[in-house]
Formats: sequence, structure tokens, C-alpha cells
Amino acid sequence: MSVLVTGGAGYIGAHVVRLLADAGRDVVVVDDCSTGSPERIGDVPLVDVDLSTDAAAGELARVIRSHGVDAVVHIAAKKQVGESMQRPAWYYRQNVGGMANLLEAVAATGLERVVFSSSAAVYGVPDETVVDESVEPRPINPYGATKLVGEWMLADAARATGLRHASLRYFNVAGAGWPELGDPEALNLVTIVFDRMARGLRPLVYGDAYATPDGTGVRDYVHVLDLAEAHLAALDHLDEPDRAHDVFNVGTGAGASVLEVVDRIAAESGTAFDPEVVPARAGDPAQLVADASRIAAELGWRARRGLDEIIASAWAADRFRRSRYS
Ligand code: WQD
Repeated sequence: MSVLVTGGAGYIGAHVVRLLADAGRDVVVVDDCSTGSPERIGDVPLVDVDLSTDAAAGELARVIRSHGVDAVVHIAAKKQVGESMQRPAWYYRQNVGGMANLLEAVAATGLERVVFSSSAAVYGVPDETVVDESVEPRPINPYGATKLVGEWMLADAARATGLRHASLRYFNVAGAGWPELGDPEALNLVTIVFDRMARGLRPLVYGDAYATPDGTGVRDYVHVLDLAEAHLAALDHLDEPDRAHDVFNVGTGAGASVLEVVDRIAAESGTAFDPEVVPARAGDPAQLVADASRIAAELGWRARRGLDEIIASAWAADRFRRSRYS
């Protein structure tokens, strides 16, 4: 039996695929390679399916049957908050439409287990400084809304068919398990700083007057390899008959500020920085840190790597990519 990983050629998906393969599991990847890259997954079979199209449900059902798939890790999605504000309908078509097609294929094939990439973006700007899963989700952008709707769709499918599912609410993912699997898109604080360094520009700090210890935004940075391990733990968990919950925060439980991250990058790269403070970004919470006790208690997962390892591995991945492609 094998595991289908949608979005398996992407940054996070490729880490999940490699861990599954290393654990001796058969894996098949579905990816349209719009942002993913087939190089990341080596010999693992890759089927090109655009999940948002009408044909996708049938194509997925064929992949599930022909590869003897018995579990899905659904990662394929669009994930840029700013883009989602500009093209909301398209985000719903991609992320919600993709989930609808996947769930039709799951129902048609009788598949029983789905692990879903959700996001801390479902929480929006919470009142709590440390967020557990009982906090009411109130997304403030279409990206976060599509992830929350995805969770609801899974819950509805489970009521209809007995599907077993786990939604993993990722906090701020960074780092690389292997240099060649690093995130090449300058989309998060760490990669944005690297990108600016490469262009001879100072790091930007979006606001320094938040109610946080040093005034800059605090986030829960989780190493992508720890995050990938959480997916394997979730798959195992779906085998258990008495599962109490379907939604899990995936974070370390510890926050780091923008200045702490920038300082760590300076130390790792041996570069002295003078970050430039610019106005805060609209919609950015002061602090977003996971209470990660549920996933520890129920899945036996906890993050094993801290900020130093995140930055060191991200830096190694950035060096690898720039030496290779420039
Ligand atoms: C982190 C911190 C910024 C860039 C977003 C999405 C979330 C998830 C991850 C999913 C914040 C500050 C950033 C810079 C800065 N998306 N910052 N200078 O906004 O926490 O989360 O990405 O796939 O759903 O909301 O992540 O990395 O953009 O920012 O000061 O140049 O760094 O204000 O405090 P964010 P981020």
C-alpha cells in the first residue's frame, strides 16, 4: 500500500516524501509543478494533475487505484497571503476546489485516511498570546479562510463516510532538512532576509512598537524537518480507533522576535546587519505562538530542533542554491 502526497514536489511536500521513502513507505506524488520542482523527489513517481480542474477528481481516483494508495497527505495549495487578498476567488477555486476534487476521489475509491496541511493563518489576529486549538478560528485573509474551509470539508466528509483525518495547523515553517530541499521562494522572513542580503540590501523590520519584549513581531518558527515528521506521526495516529481530535497545532511552543531571527542570521552568515525599521504590515499580529501540547499528548510529536538549527540549515540551503543556480 502506498501514500499519495499532493504537492509532494514543493518545499514542505518534498520533505514529507523523503521521510516517507526513508521509512520504507511506497509514495506517489501528485503535483502540477506550478511552484514545485520534480528534481526534489528523485525517483518517486510523479503524476501531473492540476487539482483545481474538473478532470482532477477522476485523475486522482485513477492514481489512487493504480498505485494502491491507502492514505493521502494533502499539501498542494496556493499559500501567499498577499496574493490571496488580490485574487480571492482564484484562491478559493485552487484551495477549496482542490480539496473538493480530492474528497470526491477519496469517496469514489473508499480511501479512509487524509492528513491535511492547514495553517496558523486560520487564527487570524487572536486575543491570546499562546494559541491552543480551542481558540476560535477567525481568519483575516482569503488564504487563511481557504484553510479553515478545508478543515470543515474534511469534517463533513468524515461524517458522511467515516473518513479519518488530521489537519495540521502549521506555524512559521523554515529551514531545510537537506540543502537541496530548501525553500527557494523569498516568502518568509528568513528567505526574504537572504534575498535582500544577496541584493546588498538591509533586512526590513515591519514595525518595532508591538507589545513584545523588543517591540518586533514574535512568531513560532518550526523546522521543516520537524514539521515533516509530524505528518508521519499523524498518519500513524489515523490507524488508532479512539482519536480524540482532528486538528493539531504544529509549532514549538516558543516564540522568536524579528530581531532575534535577524541577529541569528547575522551570526550564522558572519554578516553585520543594521536592520531598517519600516511601518508594520497590515494584519500582522504582534505575537503568534503555538500551544503545542495537544500534538505532543496525542501524536507523541514534539519539535526537536530550535531556531539555531533552522537558521543554520536555511543558510546552508541558500548557499547551495546560489552556488548552483547563479
Ligand atoms: C514573520 C514575521 C513579519 C518579513 C505568513 C502567513 C502564514 C504562513 C506563513 C503560509 C512577522 C516580520 C517579515 C520582513 C519582517 N503562510 N517580517 N520583515 O506573516 O507570520 O506568516 O507566512 O504558508 O499563514 O500569514 O510570516 O515570515 O511573512 O513574517 O519584519 O522582511 O517577520 O512582520 O512578524 P507570517 P512572515
